[in-house]
Amino acid sequence: MNIESLCPEWSEEIKEGLARICVPKKNLYLREDGVYEPAWAPVFYNPVMSMNRDFTIIFIHELSRESKIKTASDLMAATGVRGIRMAVEVSSLNEIYMNDIDPMACLLISENVRRNNVSDKIRLYCEDVNILARSLKRGGIKIDFVDLDPYGSPAPYLDSILEVVKPRGFLSVTATDLAVLMGGYPRKALRRYGAYIYKTDFSREIGLRVLIRYIQTQAAEKDLVLKPLLSYYSDHYYKILFSIDKGADKSVDILRKEGFYRYCPKCHYKDTIFQEEFFNKDHMDLKCPICGSKMILIGPVWLGELYDKELTNRLIKDLESLWWLENKKKIEKILNTINEEIDISYYYKTEYIASILKKNVPKIDKVIKCLKEIGYKASRTHLDETGFKTDAPYKEILKCF
Ligand SMILES: C[S@@+](CC[C@H](N)C(=O)[O-])C[C@H]1O[C@@H](n2cnc3c(N)ncnc32)[C@H](O)[C@@H]1O
Repeated sequence: MNIESLCPEWSEEIKEGLARICVPKKNLYLREDGVYEPAWAPVFYNPVMSMNRDFTIIFIHELSRESKIKTASDLMAATGVRGIRMAVEVSSLNEIYMNDIDPMACLLISENVRRNNVSDKIRLYCEDVNILARSLKRGGIKIDFVDLDPYGSPAPYLDSILEVVKPRGFLSVTATDLAVLMGGYPRKALRRYGAYIYKTDFSREIGLRVLIRYIQTQAAEKDLVLKPLLSYYSDHYYKILFSIDKGADKSVDILRKEGFYRYCPKCHYKDTIFQEEFFNKDHMDLKCPICGSKMILIGPVWLGELYDKELTNRLIKDLESLWWLENKKKIEKILNTINEEIDISYYYKTEYIASILKKNVPKIDKVIKCLKEIGYKASRTHLDETGFKTDAPYKEILKCF
């Protein structure tokens, strides 16, 4: 039988990771500027997200060393590429739950499952994810590794998804609604994430921390404790890997690490206040200590750690054995930068500071060197090419410029 002939006529077979997948033909869905638009295709496939899927594979590989990860899921599966890659590339997995609400997607997933000879491991559904997750829960099914990859925001799916992830399991969440999370639509951000978000010079970190805090709050309501093990920004999306634990008291401990930013829109001074300090009158003083302008409050956000550095190191080592990953170099760069990133909840941008001082933009490495020479910690951040983190007071940073 000619295996090729079973790809629908608007699709073609490609290779991603170790899987062979029928995906929409790029040249049929081009925008006026000639760029492929995944959302126009009959079934969604975005080649740019192959690094996101590579990360899913590395996570499961590494986490299965110490925890028993036997089941995984991709309940918004589109072509099925992510779940099929789990089945083909992680031999320790026994069962992968896959699903999509779109019948066309389900047909394509079936063909792709057949094409990769993994039907013994795949449980395929064609349902609304919220209904499916609740019915899996009713059937007593809990999944070790849940990967949530929706269009835009994960918010509408968290309540049900958190019902199927196993305590002591893992949840990976992708979000692409960055215009909202990074302050482009403050009213929408308030409705969707219950947070006050405005545009700043460190918006990529704000969006990530608002999202983490929002997911943790949804989980705490179910006495679940979600700790970020790794989170990153790339190509206009966030991806966060959480470990899941259960316990009412522990979930309160997590919520205690919530807080707010105080930010001066004029000179970009910023600092943080934990939720518990918030009602202390002194912290409500919103006069900028540098330029005297009125500061704004941004949040609530997660003020705890974004990364487990020990895991990051292990992931870097794992990359050596995962020879087939296409995005190895880019992943390595992100992980190495994360590894060196100091644990401060915000960053500064060289061009913003240079602009308020009316100076030329200095090289970021020179600024970091200067800060270290005067006795402070300083590093780049993976969140922004021209961003740096430091524990130096703002006045000292300005001196370095
Ligand atoms: C961003 S795509 C998923 C991409 C895929 N995970 C990948 O790695 O290529 C989102 C998918 O979710 C599906 N979807 C949207 N709403 C859904 C719902 N309520 N329940 C289940 N699937 C849904 C869409 O049909 C679409 O295929």
